[in-house]
Amino acid sequence: MFSKVKTFGLLGLNGFEVTVECSIAKGSPDFKIGGLGDISIQESRLRVQAALNNSGYKINSDKITVNLSPADIKKTGSSYDFPVLVSVLAAVEIIPALNPADAFLGELSLSGDLAGTKGILPLTAAAKACGFKRVFLPKANVHEASLVRGIEIYGIEDINQLAAFLQGRIKLTPAPPYEPKPEEYLNAADFSDVKGQENIKSAIQTAAAGFHNLLMIGPPGSGKSMIAKRIPGVLPKMTFEESIESTSVYSVAGLLDDKSPFIINRPFRPVSHTASGAGIIGGGKIPMPGEISLAHNGVMFLDELPEFRRDVLETLRQPLEDRNVVITRASGKISYPCKTMLVAAMNPCPCGNYGSLNSCTCTPSSIQRYLGKISRPVLDRIDIQTEVNAVKYEQLRTAQSGLSSSEIRENIERAREIQRVRFKNTELLFNSEIPPSRLSEFCPLDKEAEEFLKGSFDNLGLSARAYDRIMKVARTVADLEGSEVILKKHISRAVQYRTLDRKYWK
Ligand SMILES: Nc1ncnc2c1ncn2[C@@H]1O[C@H](COP(=O)(O)OP(=O)(O)O)[C@@H](O)[C@H]1O
Ligand SMILES: [Mg+2]
Ligand SMILES: [Zn+2]
Repeated sequence: MFSKVKTFGLLGLNGFEVTVECSIAKGSPDFKIGGLGDISIQESRLRVQAALNNSGYKINSDKITVNLSPADIKKTGSSYDFPVLVSVLAAVEIIPALNPADAFLGELSLSGDLAGTKGILPLTAAAKACGFKRVFLPKANVHEASLVRGIEIYGIEDINQLAAFLQGRIKLTPAPPYEPKPEEYLNAADFSDVKGQENIKSAIQTAAAGFHNLLMIGPPGSGKSMIAKRIPGVLPKMTFEESIESTSVYSVAGLLDDKSPFIINRPFRPVSHTASGAGIIGGGKIPMPGEISLAHNGVMFLDELPEFRRDVLETLRQPLEDRNVVITRASGKISYPCKTMLVAAMNPCPCGNYGSLNSCTCTPSSIQRYLGKISRPVLDRIDIQTEVNAVKYEQLRTAQSGLSSSEIRENIERAREIQRVRFKNTELLFNSEIPPSRLSEFCPLDKEAEEFLKGSFDNLGLSARAYDRIMKVARTVADLEGSEVILKKHISRAVQYRTLDRKYWK
């Protein structure tokens, strides 16, 4: 007695097809699963056995051998339970011969019910991509799975229900495609609540338009956290593809909620400075995405930046550069995307008042130690650095509301459209990604701008790396003003965004 069942496994967000073969022979009772990697698979064996017993199927007196192939890819996670169980029931012909275009995914509870499982969205997408016509998976995951179009999705409660369906005793209807409900679109807090601070809003507009990372330095209470929270609301609405990518990351992390199974609002992930390197970058025995990938297509907010462990901040360098996290394990490499805007905030010194009207009580060496937690290479990856000063009382009372989030977003969308056209035949999406070799092609300066830049170099002693960053930010500033040529005022603004590190990190 023999059966073959199809399922899928994940490496990062990429699914691969797995064949589960089961053979049952007379002999002393035994249940072996081969071709599996880790402990979670041994746990799987226990769950499958318990589910068999508790669902009323008595096949304990036989020798059951299950094998998963390809054997050379280490298989982790719990989504193999259900296909293994189906293979056993098919081998003893409780379930009739299986259709080769059917795939099965999901974890079992000990009672034989299907339990919500991590990674169902990318697993289902892989089944669709491999030409499968139907996929059977836990009812709890039906909404996220039905984001995948062009494959029939069946939400299954327990193994008895599946058996009855495949035996033709009951009818099941595939889930309709998931459409987000209007209340799932959140209205992020609005920038019109922030009084004054027009220069900060303008810095944020530039950062978001060109996808530049941002650092805000200012005393406590100056509104840094309030401002950061409002950034996702000025980014363009997520496209369907972006939502699918982000939802896949949340799916693998097991963070989707059945009430709002689709990530349609740009993520905003405030990260605690107590978070571990693995928590931020990703990692673990079964490598899970970290905060930087949960913020994919959105914002990761590191508040009180110098409170983070220096070695943890250093691990951000590669992902910030590549917009992709690679986690290496003995079993191979997996990667998670992190097209993430880094927004960081900090006080200028331990007491918070350095450079502001209130007097600072810190010693110069304690200030340098504090700032020194942030290394030069990390700072270099933050294109836009801006000081935030507390608004004065009169301004709080009287200031007009200034730029609202929707006005800022419109400006950003216009600048992004310019970039889309500019980079049409390239791999690039944003100005922040222009490689050094193509700066002169994409960033033409007029004569006055050229002279100003040269002057700034001589006066400020800027580095070559600073030069690249200034050009890219100036490109975005010019795009926001609809100017193809970069003018002196654009360069001057970009230089200004680079001079804070000189003021503080002398
Ligand atoms: N420009 C502003 N307009 C309106 N309210 C402000 C402004 N700046 C600060 N506030 C108020 O002060 C509070 C503290 O700001 P917060 O963002 O926590 O400051 P920080 O993070 O810089 O310490 C905010 O929640 C808000 O109520
Ligand atoms: Mg704060
Ligand atoms: Zn101080």
